[in-house]
Parts: sequence; structure tokens; C-alpha cells
Amino acid sequence: MTVARVKMLAGNWKMHKLNSEVEAFFAAFVQSLGLSPEQRLAGRLDLLFAVPATILAQAAKTCKPLGISVAAQNVHWEASGAYTGEISLPMLREVGVTATLIGHSERRQYFAETDATVAKKTKACLQDGVLPLVCVGETLAERDGGLVESVISRQMQSILAAVGSGAGLSDLVVAYEPVWAIGTGRTATAAQAQSVHALIRSLVTDAFGASAASALRIVYGGSANPSNIKELLAEKDIDGALVGGASLKPEEFAKMARAALAV
Ligand code: 13P
Repeated sequence: MTVARVKMLAGNWKMHKLNSEVEAFFAAFVQSLGLSPEQRLAGRLDLLFAVPATILAQAAKTCKPLGISVAAQNVHWEASGAYTGEISLPMLREVGVTATLIGHSERRQYFAETDATVAKKTKACLQDGVLPLVCVGETLAERDGGLVESVISRQMQSILAAVGSGAGLSDLVVAYEPVWAIGTGRTATAAQAQSVHALIRSLVTDAFGASAASALRIVYGGSANPSNIKELLAEKDIDGALVGGASLKPEEFAKMARAALAV
């Protein structure tokens, strides 16, 4: 059985924006989008913003009536404890956050995130009912060295081990973000992205079967913008996008959302 996958357009604000900018941003975004709340909630496109920890509560409050989800950019796997500087799943849920990024390449590169911590966080999210958007992707040196398949396979193995069974794959999103395409303006071609997305789906098929794999959403990230989004989303295994720079500008991101709805 093939499961219809709802497209997802997710913004990642990284370390940008203040509480004082939140209301104006979403007012401009919704106006640019030009859809009624009913149309936004019609289930054809999931809109989500991963915002800095200090503005999660404000963003969640502002976004709830708009039919837009708010995600954290990181989370700890324990519910509480002596982990200075960390934030837990109950803390996220308390302020209306329903999703979180896990294992973004910037966290792997600068903050010692590993496949093992990514797996623990993914497992905790699935148990807690918070949607994990787990990021994978190769560096330029790995691509040039012909290592795309082995790197993606290694990263996916730890995620799939955390999932345990294929039953909950509609409660997980995998983001393929080639590190060389992030913030560089150098987008992967639609064909390059599709080939890695197909690899990811085939790894999930090997682990849990084709029916479970068909429920998993795999989104692309790396210099996605209003000019390339349509081509990317036209590929059969690309179920959405995780957008950095272009998600900071309400009009740009609204253009991308309209393009996603038109695919
Ligand atoms: P850019 O869209 O700015 O390349 O960032 C991609 C990204 O890292 C999203 O998580």
C-alpha cells in the first residue's frame, strides 16, 4: 500500500530573530501567503518554523491560530536532570512546541552532535509524541571522495535503530541536507537530491519494508529558494524542504509555500 505524503515546508531560523520581530514576521507571512486559515489547515501542506529557544513560546502562541507549527532546533533526550544549558521535551511541549530538529549539520560540526546522540534524541521524541526532523547529509570532501552512500547509510542506520519498528514512520521526518549546499547558494540539483532521497527510502525499505518506507517524509535542505523549490518538489521522493536563509524573509517563504501548494 502506498501512503500519500503531505508536503512539508519548514523554515530554520538558526540563530536569528528576536521576540520583538515575531508578530510582524507572521503577519507579513500570512498576508503574503494570501490563504484563509481554512485553506492553510486543509492538510495539503504542513508549514513549520524551527526558531531559537528564546522565542519558542511567543512563536507557538502566534502560530497556533494560523495553523503553523513551531519546532525547536535541538532537544535533550532526558525529561529533566543536571544538564546545564539543555532543554527537554516536556519543556518544549509546555510552551506549545510540537516538533524539533535533530542532528543538524551545524550541531554535528560545531557542537559535537554524534550519530549516538541523534539516535537517543530521536527515540525520546518518538516516545514523547514530538515530531523529530532528523538531519543527514555529506560534506563536500565526502561527496568528492565518493562516500555519499556510506555516510548517508551510517547516519540512517542509527536513526532506524532508534525508530525500532516501521510502525511510526509517519511520525518522523528525515531532512537530507548536503553540507556543501547549506548557506552557499549552491543547491543540489533536483536529480542529485532525488538520488539521495531514493537511497534513504531504499534503506528504510530494507529495514522495514516498502509500505512503511512509503509513509516517511524526506525533505531537502540546502539553498532552497523560490526559484528552485518547484523543480525540487517535482521529484518523487522529495516531500518538502527545510529552508534556512529564505525562511527569514516572509515574502520569500510565502512564495515557496505557494509553489509547494501548486506542485
Ligand atoms: P540555507 O537554506 O540557508 O542553505 O540553510 C539550509 C539549512 O541548513 C536548513 O536547516
